[in-house]
Amino acid sequence: MGKVHAFGRKKKPVLDLLAFVGIVLGCVAGISGISSAEQDPATSSAAGDKNPIPYERQSVSAGRTLFIQNCSSCHGTNGKAQVGAVASATDLTTPKFFNYGSADNNISAAIKNGVGNGMPPFNDELSETDIWKIVNFVKSLWKESPPPT
Ligand code: HEC
Repeated sequence: MGKVHAFGRKKKPVLDLLAFVGIVLGCVAGISGISSAEQDPATSSAAGDKNPIPYERQSVSAGRTLFIQNCSSCHGTNGKAQVGAVASATDLTTPKFFNYGSADNNISAAIKNGVGNGMPPFNDELSETDIWKIVNFVKSLWKESPPPT
């Protein structure tokens, strides 16, 4: 089965930025100075937006261990979907196949909250720090990523 690309997803960070700028401008025009623009928890990624864990060999290696424990049953130990086991699990080695975005915060949100039909949420099993380490490991699988330092 071929993967369907959702090209619209790629635009989301830009839309988020525009929405954020809109909110900031709205606050400045309205109740300027009274309240700072607070992030709406419902629209911000539950795991936070910025990866606080440096993309380094140590975090990638810790992420690999966590990945093998938690993700390999569906995504394979090397991030390639195990055809036959869970045929629909995304091949995580190729970011252009990602339907839900391949930025750090997209990947962490997918892990934390789950996506689609077959990808379960891990917010009860994994700490945010562990999720970010897994994000670093997933990125290390990509041809286009620099090797971790
Ligand atoms: C029970 C099987 C299963 C497990 C366990 C699982 N996944 Fe998934 N995962 C899937 C399936 C199926 C999809 C595709 C969902 C869809 O697109 O509808 C998916 C999608 C994803 C995506 C989104 C890719 C995209 O299209 O943007 C990411 C990222 C991901 N998985 C990472 C992980 C990580 C990291 C773990 C371990 C913490 C994990 N998965 C564990 C089955 C699983």
